Amino acid sequence: MHLPKHVAIIMDGNGRWAEKRGLPRTAGHKVGAETLKKILTHAQKKGIEVITLYAFSSENWKRPAEEVQTLMNLFRTYLKNDVKELIKKGIRVSFIGERERFDADLQEQMNRLERQTADFQGFHVVLALSYGARNDIINAARQIAAKAAGGQIKPQEIDESFFSAHLSTADLPAPDFIIRTGGEERISNFLLWEAAYAELYFTSVFWPDFDEKALDDALETCQRRERRYGGLNMKQKI
Ligand code: FPP
Repeated sequence: MHLPKHVAIIMDGNGRWAEKRGLPRTAGHKVGAETLKKILTHAQKKGIEVITLYAFSSENWKRPAEEVQTLMNLFRTYLKNDVKELIKKGIRVSFIGERERFDADLQEQMNRLERQTADFQGFHVVLALSYGARNDIINAARQIAAKAAGGQIKPQEIDESFFSAHLSTADLPAPDFIIRTGGEERISNFLLWEAAYAELYFTSVFWPDFDEKALDDALETCQRRERRYGGLNMKQKI
């Protein structure tokens, strides 16, 4: 049966993973970043085409300054040190979210990495940073409203595909499988529009413990669900 084409992951549970071990929450994020690398390597090997990771929500800025700072430094180190490896592996990297809220050097790193990998075809990693789906939808609505007000389009021309084309995910296939680690069973403002037909998978495993076998199990569950629906296509199955 089909492997999902686009897997999206809400990487939750770093803080609790650390607290359980008597470590500072930031230790969980550090191990979480290592987990991310392992999972990306494995996802590429499995033949997944696109993987989107919720690494920082637009709400996460409200966390204690020290925790935000640790996350920023992790992004910085990760983007700098792992770039060569990503390029060597032919991985396309792009970002969704409010890029302008990050420090200038981080924005520059993001822009550069997107430019350097823009033509890679095989495996596409999308990092959601300072991302919030409602905000993305509002931005799309604003762009469309401006076009309507300027007379470039008529309201009746606005359909689903036109709307989708104005989201930050416009160049991606819709996610067909969404995983959330850490035990909560919520979508938390992640890809709200895009998730309309996605299979959802929740696991109590904290993100730092989510390993290759855990991804295999999740994918196996996704494929088993699809088998149960037999020959029916996505729309019929609702
Ligand atoms: C949620 O756990 C996780 C985050 C807010 C950050 C995710 C970041 C990483 C996995 C590390 C680095 C990423 C990159 C791109 C290098 P939580 O802190 O909400 O955990 P809790 O629910 O147990 O408190």
